[in-house]
Amino acid sequence: MGQAKIYYDSDADLGVLSNKKIVFLGFGNQGSAQAQNLRDSGIPNDQILIANRVDSYAETAKAKGFHVEHDFAAAAAIADVLFILIPDQVQPGVFNEQFSPKMKNNATIVVASGYNVFFNLLKFRPGQDVVMVAPRMIGSSVRSLHEKGHGFPCFVSVEQNGTGKGLDIALALSRAIGATKQGAIASSVREETAMDLFAEQALWPNIIMMFREAFNVLKDAGCSDEALCYEMWMSKEPAEIFERAADDGFVAQLKHHSTVSQYGQLSGSLKLGGEAMREHFKDILYNQILNGKFCKAFSQIEDDLEKEGDANPLNELYRRSEEMELVKAEKRVKARLAGLL
Ligand code: NAI
Repeated sequence: MGQAKIYYDSDADLGVLSNKKIVFLGFGNQGSAQAQNLRDSGIPNDQILIANRVDSYAETAKAKGFHVEHDFAAAAAIADVLFILIPDQVQPGVFNEQFSPKMKNNATIVVASGYNVFFNLLKFRPGQDVVMVAPRMIGSSVRSLHEKGHGFPCFVSVEQNGTGKGLDIALALSRAIGATKQGAIASSVREETAMDLFAEQALWPNIIMMFREAFNVLKDAGCSDEALCYEMWMSKEPAEIFERAADDGFVAQLKHHSTVSQYGQLSGSLKLGGEAMREHFKDILYNQILNGKFCKAFSQIEDDLEKEGDANPLNELYRRSEEMELVKAEKRVKARLAGLL
């Protein structure tokens, strides 16, 4: 229990992709990296098609020697494999209206994020495979690590096995984009969505809140803007701590700190029982994320996120965040550093 299966190159047979037409919808962060990696893995260029609207991404794809199709219906009709690599929020509109009606009944559809599949926002047919191959890396790293001969962390899952060969195809595609070199972790759209949204809606909001309140208390105690900003984040100490946590261990990295620090951090954290926080976290996970409440609420405002000014709810959230003392102090420090104040 708790241990995930890991798939390596030896678990994947690129042969299952022979003669399959592989279409990438999107040539952005992930699309450009994955398509290039796949071609470098020996999939012939003529087997690959980039479906892209007329924009600068399409021009980049052409410049890199790929075949580009602007007519989505035409691309959909020939796809044996379709990687959906456009932004998550535009996927339902583009896929359901322009791709789904024209696609083959036995096509394999690949997503790089679980959200739209977990919340049933994409329309698939029963004979189709739906798989997730989700790099845990930004696109530029997916490309640069592959070019250096390294792998990158990736989640893989089969969500609908219409052809009965979904896993073989998912693993072959994972290998072709370079994801099984280091080991692709068996996962699911539920797991990926739960962890992603939990980090965004539970973990990081609490971390932001804790920094905000810590800043307020120390400021009231007489600490200067400069001292606080550098102490808390501008020195990049938190980034270094997380880097060490990844290398040495989440708790073991404490050994790099002074004895006073180690004693304070360990005794302090063990004293905090965390029951109230655990209940709060469970509430967000079950009653906001997994039950679809956030997804439904977000779908009602997502069109507004394209708007300018106050009509865009994100701008309003940024405006309110600017009122945090921490943000105001940071601005003062930066202005003083630049000699403006
Ligand atoms: P992106 O923002 O780089 O996508 C740009 C591409 O989408 C371009 O080809 C553009 O022509 C196309 N596009 C944008 N709006 C469009 C529209 N309305 N109609 C048609 N085409 C449109 O996307 P990114 O960041 O590569 O994300 C793709 C998928 O990969 C998403 O599911 C995302 O969650 C996932 N992912 C992204 C990561 C990243 O590094 N950004 C990391 C891991 C997964």
